[in-house]
Amino acid sequence: MLSRTVSELLSQDIVVPELEIKGWVRTFRANRFIALNDGSTINNIQCVVDFNNFDESLLKRITTGAAIQVKGVLVESQGKGQKVEIQVSELEILGDSDAEHYPIQPKKHSFEFLRENAHLRTRTNTFSAVMRLRSSLSFAIHKYFNEHGFHYMHSPIITGSDAEGAGEMFKVTSLDSENPPRNEDGTIDYSQDFFGKETNLTVSGQLEAETYAMSLGKVYTFGPTFRAENSNTSRHLAEFWMIEPEVAFMNLAGNMDLAEDFLKSVIKYILSTNREDLEFLDQRLQDEDKRKPQAERSTMTLIEKLNFVTDNNFKRVSYSEAIDILRNCKPNKKKKFKYLINEWGTDLQSEHERFLVEKHFKCPVILFDYPANIKAFYMRLNDDGKTVRAMDILFPGIGEIVGGAQREERLDVLKERMAAANIPEEELWWYLDLRKYGTAVHSGFGLGFERLVMFATGMSNIRDVIPFPRTPQNAEF
Ligand code: 4AD
Ligand code: MG
Repeated sequence: MLSRTVSELLSQDIVVPELEIKGWVRTFRANRFIALNDGSTINNIQCVVDFNNFDESLLKRITTGAAIQVKGVLVESQGKGQKVEIQVSELEILGDSDAEHYPIQPKKHSFEFLRENAHLRTRTNTFSAVMRLRSSLSFAIHKYFNEHGFHYMHSPIITGSDAEGAGEMFKVTSLDSENPPRNEDGTIDYSQDFFGKETNLTVSGQLEAETYAMSLGKVYTFGPTFRAENSNTSRHLAEFWMIEPEVAFMNLAGNMDLAEDFLKSVIKYILSTNREDLEFLDQRLQDEDKRKPQAERSTMTLIEKLNFVTDNNFKRVSYSEAIDILRNCKPNKKKKFKYLINEWGTDLQSEHERFLVEKHFKCPVILFDYPANIKAFYMRLNDDGKTVRAMDILFPGIGEIVGGAQREERLDVLKERMAAANIPEEELWWYLDLRKYGTAVHSGFGLGFERLVMFATGMSNIRDVIPFPRTPQNAEF
């Protein structure tokens, strides 16, 4: 007999005479009604057992968390609350659950508690919905690029360069940490290390992706990236996934068009494929909202927010315009910002980004043409000599979700920018080669995948949208 999934059975409107299904017990009520879930959908299927037909010792083992298999018939439900149900003829316990100690009881648990039980938290409705959405979003991303002529490229995880020049890297070494080989001056001799040089986990696949864009034309990477920044915020992970498209012959305006179309497209995709998960999360947020004071409640529901992004143009604003707005805004004048905006050239903090998006423009914003000295060395210098063709996309509730740029394609300017950033030319000789052999305008961006999942699910802590979060002082599981 073919095993069925809950999702498959719930979409039936005919009697299924003979079926088999496996899953985990969510609840067992009145010695009669099993709510069974197998992860295929947010919904449970009701399995009805006639206790006269089963041993009491067997019924006792139908506890929350147990893995079971049932055989039976799918019929129109006799009771309210579900369209169909299974009348169980055979029942087998595949794996007992120690119900007394099972952490996931059928009640509300705090997200903090569930983080400590991350190996079991996808047995809750919220986390199973979030992780199904994460899976669908990653499929939508590959689908988008595939349909738009991009090649998927695997950038290396171990690298010798610091792509962002921010020095936030995890070292990769096989040297004996107690007793590493040393140079005469006492520094560690990395020539004896595994790769014969200092290496680290990548912070971005961009530099390698550029080499492929300059031959395959349109490429993207989608892989894990690592940052040893000690920021314990609800938006930072030490290990996160990044999507980085890189396109030859594309300028900054094209880069913005691509990013906007891409984000709208993947959000549209989940709105059509994961409706029930989104409706569940939407309701969860509305319930949470009701417990907040009026002033803190959201003006839009989750699904309204997602539709708003797909239906409206992102506002494109230069850094200089943004600084003018921020300098003159109420929270700045009343000294409500933690970091006050006084002059052109300061880096924007998340409080400023969120003000622009949530209070001022009330829609996604693309900020561009940032001051050169607060951005990475590889960004194309503008003719004013002080700004670069950078762009950041800011989303409501999230702040920065995308960072990108048109790349500096002129060899001499790039060398000057590297010298100013103290990056030795020998380290990136291959990157410079691209500017020697058929250089061309090209651009790309990086989308923080977990920040996208946060936006799409309405979850407010980044630790709750990745299976096993890596953050300072935390690498459990
Ligand atoms: O702005 P970032 O640092 O840009 C780059 O790494 C470029 N090389 C991308 C490119 O042009 N190809 O990072 C890109 C995005 C951010 O906008 C943010 O969404 C996410 O990556 N991000 C993080 N997400 C979670 N935890 C962190 N610690 C993150 N740091 C960046
Ligand atoms: Mg950035």
